[in-house]
Amino acid sequence: MSPAAPTPLTARRSGPIAGQIRVPGDKSISHRALILGAMTVGETTISGLLEGEDVLNTAKAMGALGAKVERLGDGNWRIHGVGVGGFAQPTGPLDFGNSGTGCRLAIGAVAGCGITVTFDGDASLRSRPMRRVLDPLEKMGARVVSAADGGRLPLTLKGASDPLPLEYESPVPSAQLKSAVLLAGLAAPGATTVIEAEATRDHTEKLLKHFGAKIVSKPYGDHGRRITLQGQPELSPAHVAVPADPSSAAFPLVAALIVPGSDLTLHSVMLNPLRTGLFMTLREMGASIEELDKKDEGEETANLRVRTSTLKGVDVPAARAPSMIDEYLILAVAAAFAEGDTRMRGLKELRVKESDRLEATAEMLRVNGVRVDIEGDDMIVHGKGPSGLGATGVPGGGEVKTHMDHRIAMSALMMGLASINAVRIDDSAFIATSFPGFVELMRGLGADLS
Ligand code: S3P
Repeated sequence: MSPAAPTPLTARRSGPIAGQIRVPGDKSISHRALILGAMTVGETTISGLLEGEDVLNTAKAMGALGAKVERLGDGNWRIHGVGVGGFAQPTGPLDFGNSGTGCRLAIGAVAGCGITVTFDGDASLRSRPMRRVLDPLEKMGARVVSAADGGRLPLTLKGASDPLPLEYESPVPSAQLKSAVLLAGLAAPGATTVIEAEATRDHTEKLLKHFGAKIVSKPYGDHGRRITLQGQPELSPAHVAVPADPSSAAFPLVAALIVPGSDLTLHSVMLNPLRTGLFMTLREMGASIEELDKKDEGEETANLRVRTSTLKGVDVPAARAPSMIDEYLILAVAAAFAEGDTRMRGLKELRVKESDRLEATAEMLRVNGVRVDIEGDDMIVHGKGPSGLGATGVPGGGEVKTHMDHRIAMSALMMGLASINAVRIDDSAFIATSFPGFVELMRGLGADLS
């Protein structure tokens, strides 16, 4: 999405963040539910789908590939899929907007089908690496017809009519890469295996099982997994209930921790252990986050009650990065309001997200008076201490460049709710890619955003 004119927004020091909310559905599961529904013959239904721009682009793409995708309203969707290997040749390019997940997973799904498809996206997505996905898919028989420099978008891929199974050791910890190979492997005869040295989010594996595929995941090394999928399964249509996205919950949650007097409950937040690194880290920092009404409906969920807490700096190990890869921006905001230094290790992958998040996070804090060092792949935030009466805590007063990145926009705004001076962002438009209604929701909890 590229809006005609940027829409700046300012966050000012606010009264308590208080109330009960449910944040929108999980983005990772929403993309996967649509794609797997499209690859399954029969009627798949989804409730709680995230209706953000990223996911809507995936829904459109699945329609363009021949699936019947219907929005029934209020997060409920129905898909009549075409089956593994059944995608039709689309009539034009597929535009994934800002979404690396939608695009990379769809590239994998298309790679196992004998059709030729052009993939495109906005300036941010066009700058992101696609070679990591193309390498294994070429080994399976897909062919890159044309691509921008380094295999980037716009990219035209000819899928394999008879894809080969593959055993692939992933060179980067990426759930998107793992998922692309598994989705291509659905169309290949025999077993496709992905080995990851560090376990990444396992929603594709869980949903493949839910749709009836034979898939086995075993521990590998100290932190890894070896995942084997039997190709050419008979997928059965299923219902997917999408839980609330922990990566979206992270923003109001941190706001409640840093704004004095807050008491917030976030309903039905997914607590898949491969997604909860932020909550673990915040607790180590001293955060009060209670888990209430725990449930297990395919994914573990709980209501999280969060109260303002005095935070202290911690050392976040590199091994935790895959379980909180999207949360370092908002963790850096929490760290800015902590006593002492927080060192976050092993952040190399942050450089290839919607923006270079390592540099952008440092810049976001520095323009607001917080000292940050980058040492190799580590980031060190020198905490200013909690927001208090008068001139203590994070100075604020800066304008943050959002670089077409929704998570920079939301993180900077949360900082402004507790900093001494207001924090302004240059563009709030990209928040709609992952968290529609964010500004209104936060205002309803007491946030001063205008
Ligand atoms: C995602 C995987 C992660 C994450 C992204 C969502 C997914 O990306 O940053 O927001 O749904 O598979 P990588 O696979 O590039 O680490």
